Amino acid sequence: MNKFEAFETFEEYQFQDNSREARRSRPGPKKKKDRRARQTMREIREMDDGIENWVPSYAKAIDPRHHERQWVTESIGPFYRDQIVTDVTRLVKGGKEANVYACIGHPATGVDLIAAKLYRPRMLRHLKNDAIYKAGRTLRNAEGKQLKGRREKLAMRKKTTFGKEVDIQWWIGNEYRTQTQLFEAGANVPKPIGHQGNTILMQYIGDAYGPAPTLSEVRLPQDEAAALFTRVMQNVSLMLDNHLVHGDLSAYNILYWEGDIYLIDFPQMVEARHNPHAYELLERDITRVCEYFAGLGVVRDPVALAHDLWDPYMGPGG
Ligand SMILES: Nc1ncnc2c1ncn2[C@@H]1O[C@H](COP(=O)(O)OP(=O)(O)O)[C@@H](O)[C@H]1O
Ligand SMILES: [Mg+2]
Repeated sequence: MNKFEAFETFEEYQFQDNSREARRSRPGPKKKKDRRARQTMREIREMDDGIENWVPSYAKAIDPRHHERQWVTESIGPFYRDQIVTDVTRLVKGGKEANVYACIGHPATGVDLIAAKLYRPRMLRHLKNDAIYKAGRTLRNAEGKQLKGRREKLAMRKKTTFGKEVDIQWWIGNEYRTQTQLFEAGANVPKPIGHQGNTILMQYIGDAYGPAPTLSEVRLPQDEAAALFTRVMQNVSLMLDNHLVHGDLSAYNILYWEGDIYLIDFPQMVEARHNPHAYELLERDITRVCEYFAGLGVVRDPVALAHDLWDPYMGPGG
C-alpha cells in the first residue's frame, strides 16, 4: 500500500496532519519486532513502482554527473512513490534559494500539472536579515511542532550543520503551512498539494505551453490594471485578517494568469500580532505593489492604504 492510499481522499492527503502524534495513531506497519515484515513491504514497494530506478524525463536530459539530476530525482521521488506526480518535465525557474519545476500530476490527483518548489541545501547563505522575519516567532520544526529541546535551540543559535538543517526545515514547513492557511481562507494563492523535506508541491499556474508570467514579466492590459490592483489589495487585507503580512510582496511574487492574479513565495511571511516589524513590512509590501501599478496609471498612496488596513486591525489603542 502506498502512502496516498492510506487516505480516503486526495484532500485528506494534502492537508494531512504530519505531527508525530498523528503519525503514531495512523494505521500501518510499525514496531521494531516487525522488521522483517517491513523489509518485505519495502521490497514489494520497490518492485511495485520502480522508485529505485525512477528518473524523471527532465532529469534524464541532464548529465548524470551533474548534481541537479540526483537532486531533482531524490527530492521529487517521494511524491512519485506516493502517486502524486508521474514525471518532471521542465525547469520553470531557477533562483538563488529555490528551483521551481513543472510536474505531471498522477491521474488520482485530478490535477494535470503540478509545480514543485525545491529549496537548495545552501539557501541559508542567501537569507539575509532573517532575524527581522523571525522576531516574535516560536521555534518550530518542519512539522509545526514547537521546539523545546535545548539541543535544537542551541544548534539553531550556533548555526551548526544540524542547526541549519532544523532551520531550513522550519522555513519550508512554515511556507507550506502559511500557504495552506491562506488557501483555505480563500486567498488567491496556488493550491498547496504536499510537502516533504526540501520540497513543496502546489497547483501549477499556467498551461502545457508555459508557466504564468509574473507581473514583472508581463505588460498588463491598461483596462485591467485598476481591477487587478484591487484584487491584490483584497488579498493583502485577507492576509492581515489571518494575522499575516507577506513580507516580500512585489511584482516578482505575483503571477498573472487568465485575467487574475496569484500571490506566491511565502517563506518570509510574518505574524502581524507578534512581529515588531509587521507594520513596516506591510507598508513596504503595499509600496512595492503601488509602484508597479503607478506605472500603469493606477496611482494610489501606499502609506494611506497601509494605515487604512493596519489601524482598524490594531483597533483603538493599537
Ligand atoms: N505555482 C506556480 N506555478 C507557476 N509558476 C510558479 C509557481 N510558483 C512559482 N513559480 C515560478 O517560479 C518562480 C520562483 O518561485 P518563488 O516561489 O517566487 O521562489 P523564489 O523567488 O524564492 O525563487 C516564480 O517567480 C514563478 O515564475
Ligand atoms: Mg520569488
